[in-house]
Amino acid sequence: MIGVFDSGLGGLTVFNAIRTYAPKTDLVYFGDTKNAPYGNKTKEEVKKLAAESIQKLIDEGVVEIVSACNSISISLDAPLLTSLSLSKENIIEMVGPTIQDLKNREEKNILLCATQITIDSGVYQDRLKGIGKKVEELPLPELVSYIESGKNREEVQKLLEKYKQTQGKISADLILLGCTHYPLVADVFEEVFSIPTYNPANAVAREVLSRFNCDGEGKEKISFSKETKQTQRYTKRTP
Ligand code: DGL
Repeated sequence: MIGVFDSGLGGLTVFNAIRTYAPKTDLVYFGDTKNAPYGNKTKEEVKKLAAESIQKLIDEGVVEIVSACNSISISLDAPLLTSLSLSKENIIEMVGPTIQDLKNREEKNILLCATQITIDSGVYQDRLKGIGKKVEELPLPELVSYIESGKNREEVQKLLEKYKQTQGKISADLILLGCTHYPLVADVFEEVFSIPTYNPANAVAREVLSRFNCDGEGKEKISFSKETKQTQRYTKRTP
């Protein structure tokens, strides 16, 4: 059984990709909607919340865990894992598989769209430069709340247009959706920026397939720390 977690709905983009690659895997999902968004919190706050979410998954009997949250990636350090009796082998996070996959892509100029905490950490910027890419960065501090609260397409489009204007000239040939919520509105990104988007979910799912035990009966359990209109659409899928 594999556990997947995020601050809310976004990690379901990764959950669904894992399901596609590994139809038989038993999957447990936890979305911490009560505390979303993580992206505007401090590293310490996010680390504490990540530990609580991972512990919840461990309590469900999970030993292999996917952190489907870029904002958490910088917090998954050795002390945190040791405090949860886990090692690096038990965890797959977003950044590593994304960078490995982007290495093979020909686009050289990347527009990194991500939460404030992910942008501030510099983790993607460093790793992208390390594989020879040029990086422009664009933090989108309000977008996760828009998605969690079910704002319509027009409202999301207006918000993205506002961010695009503040950015000025963009010379990127690929947008890296560096937050797992963003693929839920990938089409709006493509319309506003007229640049193709890259969703890391498939690269992460392939990493899961190659590193974790994907045997099982295809069971799914999806839960959230706070039910909302948006989460109810997904919890209905719980067997
Ligand atoms: N979906 C998450 C990420 O990939 C968290 C976003 C948030 O809660 O701000 O960063």
